[in-house]
Amino acid sequence: MIGVIKMEYYNDIVKKRNSCRMFSGKKVDDDVLVEIRKYYEDEESDLVDGIKTELKFYFGNVYDALSKSVGYNGYCIKAPAYMLLFSDPAEHFLENAGYLAQGITLKMTELGLSACWMTINDAAATKAALGEDTDMVLACAIAFGYRDENNDEKKAPKKSLDELTDGKKFGKDVDTTLWYEELEYGLRAMAHAQSFGNRQPYKVLVDDTKIYLVGLEDPETNEYDTHLNYGIVMFNFYAVMAAVRANAPKWSFDAPEHDLGLPSNAVYVAKCGF
Ligand SMILES: Cc1cc2nc3c(=O)[nH]c(=O)nc-3n(C[C@H](O)[C@H](O)[C@H](O)COP(=O)(O)O)c2cc1C
Repeated sequence: MIGVIKMEYYNDIVKKRNSCRMFSGKKVDDDVLVEIRKYYEDEESDLVDGIKTELKFYFGNVYDALSKSVGYNGYCIKAPAYMLLFSDPAEHFLENAGYLAQGITLKMTELGLSACWMTINDAAATKAALGEDTDMVLACAIAFGYRDENNDEKKAPKKSLDELTDGKKFGKDVDTTLWYEELEYGLRAMAHAQSFGNRQPYKVLVDDTKIYLVGLEDPETNEYDTHLNYGIVMFNFYAVMAAVRANAPKWSFDAPEHDLGLPSNAVYVAKCGF
């Protein structure tokens, strides 16, 4: 039974979803928006406790304001709706925001919506262009709505589990025969996570009781998206674990217990027991 639930969440939601850059004009119904907000307010667990965030939806004529500083290669995605997440700029706020917003994009997939993360080139300029006067900073921008029926975008190919994972130390093989099913699907979910430009600039080190997320230097990914990427990939692991366990393991930014043997172009991010 557990296997069936796990497989469904992984196969139908995490693995199946792909970014959408061409939406139909269909309006997102109010009851769907209510469900998304309910999930964010009542059901979602934070990555970092106590960081205040605010979720805002925008419709209609905000494209001009957003397109000045949102979207890579000068291309902001046209969509019937946008979701922006504002946050207090506390330590790890971008990882926390990425984690929360990823939970929402997976919820959107469950609700039959499509979405695409958009890079924020200038958070202050975007906030000003939208006329927002909150003290919080803009952390995430996501276009969403219903996929146009002529949109045949394919999901970008992702790192294999073998490429994503190492053993106890960076660059060392991992003994996959020790993995149990839940762990393997959690790791597969990480391999399917969205990242800026599909760069996936990270690795996961796996020891006997914990996994360690390690960031890889990537000249194409800016500072903001580097940290959002981490939050997104951490959420994917959590989501698959949470689909099968009442008390899914939580990520921690505390230092690792042992030397991970990281090269100079890699940086330890966070760890999670399993
Ligand atoms: C932080 C972040 C920023 C992104 N920025 C953009 C963007 O500005 N424009 C865009 O078309 N896609 C953007 N993407 C979407 C990625 O290109 C996409 O997730 C990746 O190529 C993987 O494809 P998939 O989502 O179909 O699996 C972004 C994704 C992330 C996580």
